Amino acid sequence: AVPDRSNVVWHEGQVTLAARSAVMGHRPATVWMTGLSGAGKSTVAFALERRLIEAGHPCFVLDGDNVRHGLNRDLGFSPKDRAENIRRVAEVARLMNEAGLIVITSFISPFRDDREMAGQIIGKERFIEVHLSTRIEECERRDVKGFYRKARAGELQGFTGVSAPYEPPESPAVRLDTELLTIDDSINILLQHLENYYES
Ligand code: PPS
Repeated sequence: AVPDRSNVVWHEGQVTLAARSAVMGHRPATVWMTGLSGAGKSTVAFALERRLIEAGHPCFVLDGDNVRHGLNRDLGFSPKDRAENIRRVAEVARLMNEAGLIVITSFISPFRDDREMAGQIIGKERFIEVHLSTRIEECERRDVKGFYRKARAGELQGFTGVSAPYEPPESPAVRLDTELLTIDDSINILLQHLENYYES
């Protein structure tokens, strides 16, 4: 049940987004990576973060594996828990954007409705959806964590792409296939996209 919020009142701050953006030197945004396990989300996210910091842009990565050790340690992988995972992460991304940071999120986020919800929470104009579109055959060939093998052997239930669905985005802002692109290629594409975003 949703608790009664009628006695909770929103308090406006005195700092405008424009004033904060001027201090940070950029317009905050959330680069939302979605894709299968092993598609390259975390690798690209952390490499992008390093390049942005080197260029003087305050930014931060929210990564599925890491967030699930802390804030979301009570959540599993049912569709309901994945939705709650994405909702909380979107709320955190929104707060970080309001604080002026560029946020890079790295979550499978397999359901269209959940990504749509994340976009609503963060704000459509600040939400940059990036599809790591690497084919499942390639993700499975890499099998960095051995989870595909376990999922195929029936030792891991409800694994995305094997025994749980992945709904690809229909019109992401950027699509990156890490089978065809180097990490540097992917980073350069994303940096170019962010440059255009700052100037728009
Ligand atoms: S989700 O769907 O967005 O809520 O998932 P996410 O928070 O990104 O967590 C995905 C990582 O958890 C590991 N893992 C699983 N993934 C998918 N399905 C199942 N059942 C599962 N169980 C554990 C897996 O290592 C994912 O990490 P990545 O980095 O994507 O490989």
